[in-house]
Amino acid sequence: MFKWKDNFSVNIESIDEQHKELFKIGNSLYEIVSIKDGVDRYDEIVEVLHSLMDYAVYHFSFEEKVMVDNGYPKFEQHKRQHDSFITKVRSIDEEEIDEMQKKIGMDLIIFIANWIENHILKTDMEYKEFLNDKGVY
Ligand SMILES: [Fe+2]
Ligand SMILES: [Fe+2]
Repeated sequence: MFKWKDNFSVNIESIDEQHKELFKIGNSLYEIVSIKDGVDRYDEIVEVLHSLMDYAVYHFSFEEKVMVDNGYPKFEQHKRQHDSFITKVRSIDEEEIDEMQKKIGMDLIIFIANWIENHILKTDMEYKEFLNDKGVY
């Protein structure tokens, strides 16, 4: 589902690794939601949701520190996108997942896909040259 390509690289090794990890979490969610055996997957979906949350918090604070340490001029607007991602993931109601597992799982997959497209491939990409020029690889 979520496949890493070389042009997704921001040319900073640690951040690329973290982005790949987020792809992995997206893929495990996709796998769970795609199984059509009618078995209740509530616990698994909630577990993936929590790992997405935890990993996003970790990755965002890492990225934000690199930006602040290097005086990245577009830090504020970048951070706002991170914050809205967290708010959105946090707003997913676990009781609702219980009733509408497939629907919420699929919505979340679409949300992650949009995030990759609009944040990693656009907003994150904007710091690539700036940070590389500062010697961050
Ligand atoms: Fe990122
Ligand atoms: Fe970012």
